[in-house]
Amino acid sequence: MSILSIKTYPARVLKEKAEAVKSIDGRLQQLIENMIETMYDASGVGLAAPQVGVSKRLIVIDTAYREQGKSGLVVIINPEIVYQEGQAGGIEGCLSLPRFTVAVDRSARVYVRGIDVDGNPVEIESTGLFSRALQHEIDHLNGVLLIDRLNPVQKQNLSGSFLKLNQ
Ligand code: NI
Repeated sequence: MSILSIKTYPARVLKEKAEAVKSIDGRLQQLIENMIETMYDASGVGLAAPQVGVSKRLIVIDTAYREQGKSGLVVIINPEIVYQEGQAGGIEGCLSLPRFTVAVDRSARVYVRGIDVDGNPVEIESTGLFSRALQHEIDHLNGVLLIDRLNPVQKQNLSGSFLKLNQ
């Protein structure tokens, strides 16, 4: 296993719509192992493949580790939000936007479908931090970053400062 370098804004791969994974081979499994190690190393609660420069629909999430110090690792290939409801506010950061946090409204509950590392279908219904992480990571697969989720007032307050922050 190895720790991968995390792409940061404005890397182009972060703005691309990622491609569906068509086969789960040894190379993909290696990528998954490396993404997991990279996520823990960076103390993130989730990581999407485009963040390590691979434009594929693959995410890893572990919100339990941060909250309870125990593993709650979830790997989802080709994740899809099939149902969402409610609204929940919260503060988010992103490993691709270092030193940046912002309040983002998300759906309170999401129902996600995809496949696991063995190619079996997975269905996850979630709320709370896990739901937020799912929505954040799936956004990455569609080329959407936190800064694309800001409301007009947040954008105005931030104009200029964000780029300076990341120079
Ligand atoms: Ni992120």
